[in-house]
Order: sequence, then C-alpha cells, then structure tokens
Amino acid sequence: MNGNRDARILVVDDEVHEREGLSMLLRGWGYETETASQGREALEKIPSFNPAVVICDLRMPDMNGLELLRELRHSHPTPTFIMLSGQGTIGEAVEATKLGAYNFLEKPLDVKKLQVELRNCLERRVNERELEIAQRRLRQAGILGRLVGGSRKMQEVMLLISQVAPSSASVLITGESGTGKELAARTLHDLSPRKMNPFVAVNCAAIPETLMESEIFGHEKGAFTGAMDRRAGCFELADGGTLLLDEIGEMHIGTQAKLLRVLEDSKVRRLGSKVEIITDVRVLAATNKVPEDAVAKGQLRSDLYFRLNVVHISIPPLRERLEDLEDLTATLFEDLQHKYQKSVRAVDSEVLELFRRYTWPGNVRELRNTLERAVVVCSGEVLRKADLAPDFGRTTPAVPEGDRTLRAGLTVGEAERLLIRETLAFTSNNKTRAAEMLGISLKTLHNKLKEYEAQP
Ligand SMILES: Nc1ncnc2c1ncn2[C@@H]1O[C@H](COP(=O)(O)OP(=O)(O)OP(=O)(O)O)[C@@H](O)[C@H]1O
Ligand SMILES: [Mg+2]
Repeated sequence: MNGNRDARILVVDDEVHEREGLSMLLRGWGYETETASQGREALEKIPSFNPAVVICDLRMPDMNGLELLRELRHSHPTPTFIMLSGQGTIGEAVEATKLGAYNFLEKPLDVKKLQVELRNCLERRVNERELEIAQRRLRQAGILGRLVGGSRKMQEVMLLISQVAPSSASVLITGESGTGKELAARTLHDLSPRKMNPFVAVNCAAIPETLMESEIFGHEKGAFTGAMDRRAGCFELADGGTLLLDEIGEMHIGTQAKLLRVLEDSKVRRLGSKVEIITDVRVLAATNKVPEDAVAKGQLRSDLYFRLNVVHISIPPLRERLEDLEDLTATLFEDLQHKYQKSVRAVDSEVLELFRRYTWPGNVRELRNTLERAVVVCSGEVLRKADLAPDFGRTTPAVPEGDRTLRAGLTVGEAERLLIRETLAFTSNNKTRAAEMLGISLKTLHNKLKEYEAQP
C-alpha cells in the first residue's frame, strides 16, 4: 500500500460499471483506489485502507451515502467525502452539506470538475495536517502560555508586548538563547485579534536550506525533485494569523530576498506556480544574535532587517533580572509537578539561594532544565540542594593552562568559543552533554558550531 494517505481514494457505488470505470480513471490520475459495492462493505474497508477521500454514490440499496457519512463522521481520521448524485436530489444534497460532505457532484460525472474537486479536497487536507504539525511542535516546546516576571525589566517588556499586540506590525524579538523569545511571540499572538487564527512558527535553523523556501512559500507538485505533491507554505498556513520566523539570522540570504518581497506586497507564490496567493499574515521574527552584527556580517539583509524591525522587543537575560527567579521557579515547578506527577511540593530556600548566586548562561530554559532534572530525581516532598546536579553552578570545566586559558583581553565572543571548545573536549565531543553543561539548547550549540566553522 502506498505510504501517502493523500493518494488513496475509496469508490463506493452499487453500479459495477460506474464503480470500476471511475476507479480506473482515478488510477490513471495516479491515485490508489479501492472499491466497495455498498455502504457496509465501505465501512469494513475504510479502517485498513484509510483513504483520504471517499467518492460515494448517494443512492444505494443497503445504506445510502448519507447514512455512510453519518456513520463515519466521528471516526478518526475522517476521510473527506465527495457525494455523487443523480439529477433532482437537491434536498439530499443540502443535508449532506450539513453533515460536512465536502462536495457534491452530479451524475453523469463531469471529469474536469471531479479533477478540480479532488485537488481542492486534498489541498485542504494538507493544510489541516500542516497546522496540526505546527501546533504540536509548539506544545512539545513546553510553552506555558504566559510570560512570568515581575522585575522592572520584564514589566517593561510585557507593557510593550501588550501595546503592540493589537496591531499587525512586524516585531523583531531579540535576546539570548532561552530568554523566552518564542513565548513572547506566542503572547503577542494570543493578545491580538488574530488569536483565533493559527500561530505558526518556523525555525530557520532547523530546516535545511534546500527545503526552506518550500517550507515558507509552499510548492506545486513537481516543482523540484522530490516534490511529490503540492504543499502549502507557512504563509498560507498562517493566513489570518501570525507567523514567527525563528532564528531569522540563519535564513539563507537568497531566501531573505524572496521573503522581503512577500512582506512588501502580501502575496506569495508557491515554488513552481504562476499564481500569486494573497495572504494576511502578521510576521514576527526572533534571533539570539545582535541583529546589527548579523547585518554587518552579511548574514541578515539590511532591507529585511528594517522591514522586520518595526517594533523591537529585547528580552533581557535572566542574570539581569534575578528578581524573577522566585516567580519563574514557582511557575516552572508547578508545570513540572504536573508533568511528572510527583509528590514533591516545594522548593527549599537553600536551592533558591543557590539559584540567585548563579549566572544562568542558558537563561530561563536552563532554569527549567535544572528544575526538571531535580524534580525527576527528588524522592521527598521538598526539592533540596541534593536533588540538583552535583556540578550545578560549577559547570565550567577546568581549563588547562597555556594559550587556551580564559584571560582578560579576550572578547566575550572569543571566550564563548573557547568555553564551548573546552566543554566539548571535556565531554569527549558529546554535544548533548556539552549543551547541558553550558546551559544552552543542543540547537543553539549546533548553531554556534556552524557559525565558528564559517569563520576562520
Ligand atoms: N518569562 C517567562 N515565563 C515563563 N516561562 C518562560 C519565560 N521565559 C521563558 N520561559 C520558558 O523557558 C523556555 C525557553 O523559552 P523560549 O523557547 O521562548 O526561549 P527562546 O528565547 O526562544 O530560546 P532560543 O533562543 O533557544 O530559541 C520555555 O520552556 C519557556 O516556556
Ligand atoms: Mg526560540
């Protein structure tokens, strides 16, 4: 069986010639088909064949098309229905629409119409699935749905967010890794009139350069080798809503030029298509680089930077707002308690004291990871110092003497590079472990290594 569900169609018709004829036609178009001569048979075949579309005759002896549709309405995944009817069955057609039948075609079949209809159905399915994927990605990112922080600095950030959220202005969000840029973007969306529409996040660092344009702009079938079907891009998925371009500095410079064009005239064209689609998308961008530096280094087009930077929100590192530690710890802790269902109820004040003395290079994400580890190992009711990793607060590995010693005169950038190199040496190049020790995400570590490779 073909792995691609979108290619599978079940034809249900009690009339053998119609059924087989239609099935053959569809196979000629490249679909995989299965047939059923009546409703019951269709019900039996659907779970294993798992079609994307059911083309069904409305009038059949045992169970008519509407009854079949009613039976399947609550099954999952639900196939899309195309109902076929003879002339003069408008009443039934209306009822089918109420049940959610995607479309209605009259017999004798107009082949051209069927082709268009199928394409529409499948496109809608692809869109729905993409959205589901994007939303799942967000949920997995562990987003809490609200920003926490009573410090003056965070209050300023929150005020700015609430002021600019209602408009559709582009916002550039900057801040070190793990400071909460994605959460800020999410909050901007949630507080905007677009909140009922999708929030879609694309991580420009996680998607290979060759797939980036197709991810953002979409593509038509055959637009490039491997483009097996047509696919909506993020702009289309986020229509009416918000699109976050995360790690914008990682986007290929050529793609940036195309993106700028889309932002200027609100129209996207899928790869391999001549048709321009009008979209209404609010674009947010995030980066953990200093955007002016990225522009100076040629990693970020200056015209795109100006276009995105209508409003700039800079999220301060955690070490500059240690007042937030207590609230953040409480919120993250509650979330983790929930996640792990442990009997641990509170965090010992000694732990908080240690937290206050630490510099948190990995910011809120590092705090979350630290707490997560502690909650997992904690066996009592109170989370204590002993539950923290033994090397907590001392994550910097011993640096050997010589020219590799951290010393005055290094720039922060050089020191960072050195620290990463030393940590990797310390962990025998175990990147996961190194990222943990450095308190940054694995993704960030990869980004930094890529950056170093590019530099002499
Ligand atoms: N102010 C905050 N209140 C509550 N949780 C927060 C806050 N800031 C960050 N977090 C949590 O910290 C983690 C990291 O946040 P987020 O992913 O938004 O950071 P980021 O700046 O996008 O990081 P990166 O640069 O690595 O992509 C998430 O689990 C997020 O929910
Ligand atoms: Mg992020």
